[in-house]
Amino acid sequence: MASDLEAGKLSATLGRALRYYDEIASTNTEAMEWALSGAPHGAVVVTDHQTGGRGRWGRPWFSLPGKGLQFSLILRPDLEVERHGILTAALGVAVAETLEDVVGLATTIKWPNDVLLNDKKVAGILVETQTVGSTVAVAVCGIGINVSLERGDLPPDIADRASSLTIESTRPLTDRTTLLARSVERIESRYEDAIRPGDDLRIIDEAARRSSILGHDVTVRVPDGSILEGRATGFDANGGLVVDADGTRHIVVVGEVGQLRAT
Ligand code: BTN
Repeated sequence: MASDLEAGKLSATLGRALRYYDEIASTNTEAMEWALSGAPHGAVVVTDHQTGGRGRWGRPWFSLPGKGLQFSLILRPDLEVERHGILTAALGVAVAETLEDVVGLATTIKWPNDVLLNDKKVAGILVETQTVGSTVAVAVCGIGINVSLERGDLPPDIADRASSLTIESTRPLTDRTTLLARSVERIESRYEDAIRPGDDLRIIDEAARRSSILGHDVTVRVPDGSILEGRATGFDANGGLVVDADGTRHIVVVGEVGQLRAT
């Protein structure tokens, strides 16, 4: 992986500037520092192994050397803050499409952007932003893909809901450098949809088509700690989750969906 990446073989417009590390605490932390010191739009930080990988809600992100793809893409989207959810949705759709191509199985997305194969999480996305006024000036889009973890590699606390491409795939896998290049190409295409008025609706449609939760009764934990219970019915134009609860329509911008009940 290292030598290919250092040679800068990513072909997309995004990913032309790239820093590879054998080991690093977190590609998101490194990418944000690079962004704040002038990294160009589209720059990528990638590593073979993270010692302090971070997930959403302050959770750790598990990986083992040689068995995952961990990278962060720096975008300068100039997007209104209230539109940041469309970026999150675009990334989820792009990663879902990439993994579907690579593995040859249908992927689903658990809002906002966990990517699942056979209902098990194989990829996670952490978007961290810097805003200037009312716009997102920098978005560091961190993506972790469980590539070749075996079942026995998964820590007990996530073993029942996480998996990897190797575990789920029935065909030989592509190498991680190719997986990175394909991911970046897809992200580029979906990012362009996200920022082009009108085309953003394609992302919403695709996110809805792949959603593992729409039409289900859900609980959603929101940042103030409260729990909303209701039915997930759709996404709004900014990628927010629409939940109908007790006859009221709620739009959830940031939240954690849990405890799906059979409907
Ligand atoms: C989640 O599902 O909670 C998000 C996981 C995001 C993990 C990736 S790995 C690359 C980047 N660096 C990090 O520290 N986190 C993200």
